[in-house]
Amino acid sequence: MILDIIAGARPNFMKIAPIIRALQAREAQGGPLRYRLVHTGQHYDARMSGDFFAQLGIPEPDVNLEVGSGTQAEQTAAIMVRYEKLLLDRRSALCLVVGDVTSTMACAIAAQKLCVPVAHVEGGIRSGDWTMPEEINRMVTDSITNWFFTTSEAANENLRRTGVPDERIFFVGNTMIDTLLANLGRLRPPAFWAELGLQAGEYFVLTLHRPANVDSQAAFARMLAAIGEGTRGMPVVFPVHPRTAKTLRELGGVGGPGLRSVDPQPYLEFNWLVKHARAVITDSGGITEETTVMQVPCLTLRDTTERPETVTTGTNELIGTDPSRLAPALDRLFAGQWKRGGIPPLWDGRTGERIVAALERLLAEAWS
Ligand code: UD1
Repeated sequence: MILDIIAGARPNFMKIAPIIRALQAREAQGGPLRYRLVHTGQHYDARMSGDFFAQLGIPEPDVNLEVGSGTQAEQTAAIMVRYEKLLLDRRSALCLVVGDVTSTMACAIAAQKLCVPVAHVEGGIRSGDWTMPEEINRMVTDSITNWFFTTSEAANENLRRTGVPDERIFFVGNTMIDTLLANLGRLRPPAFWAELGLQAGEYFVLTLHRPANVDSQAAFARMLAAIGEGTRGMPVVFPVHPRTAKTLRELGGVGGPGLRSVDPQPYLEFNWLVKHARAVITDSGGITEETTVMQVPCLTLRDTTERPETVTTGTNELIGTDPSRLAPALDRLFAGQWKRGGIPPLWDGRTGERIVAALERLLAEAWS
């Protein structure tokens, strides 16, 4: 029985790696499932894609739909057309999507319309913020998902509230954390570590790529100025996402003296930087899960989160998008008053195995 595993953009790759590893392990033991790895090509640069496959030991995709960049609708349409064609040429027994990127939603729609059941890893999470394309992707995907693999009790509750019965919800934990725990011992400093004179606990990591934060030059410049001031001259290592690079180029030389813009980092180097940072300042969702597990303080420049457990249990705090709220939070950090946090339930490194065990059972029932 062949299932499709869909990956399209950078945050998908760390989520599929443990599922593929678990499938391979079961196959070696005579397990019934086979997979076809479908890369949509939403992210295509080595720095946004290839490096992650290499470092995380993900096999070459069986199919690359090579959709490339475009507007939200262009990308969605291109992925749907090409994935539909693939399914028509060679149908799979299940379409497994992860996360909340455009590829997740587009493949779920194409599959479900051909009556190929959909499983959604990281289903059920909600920020409530419809200005984020990811929130639309989550809502659409979950409205046509058969089986949900969830990371948190909050996700389970969101699904129940929309009428999803418990039999379709599998609270399995977090595959992104499987990848982190499997790679903690392999993390390594980036080449610029010595060159920039970085020392553990004596620098910040910054990532920004949400349209709300980086598409407006004025807002972006104000935020960078607040970050420069609040971090008190400590180096701020800023791996710059391609979307952000565009605004940064247009602005030309903004940010305080501590700002060190670098290319997007591969997985092992990026998480080395996070693990040893004084704190992380970000507008990402996934990074707040990694900082929670590494117990590194995290300041999130968003008003909402779809991952509330990173705040209630973990090290994350929602600072919002108003730059004036950063200074008081950083003052507390420098005063040593940040919470240490705990680890959310089932974020234990075994999620990939739990997903594969459930899939074997579900597909056996569906096809019997
Ligand atoms: C996407 C995801 C977001 C995720 C982020 C991580 C959606 C709606 N958003 O946003 O959830 O957090 O990826 O990176 O799916 N580009 C390159 N090289 C690449 C890929 C993109 O230069 O390999 C450029 C594109 O040309 C475009 C920009 O980066 O100008 C944005 O890429 P896109 O995939 O549209 O969305 P992201 O902002 O990366």
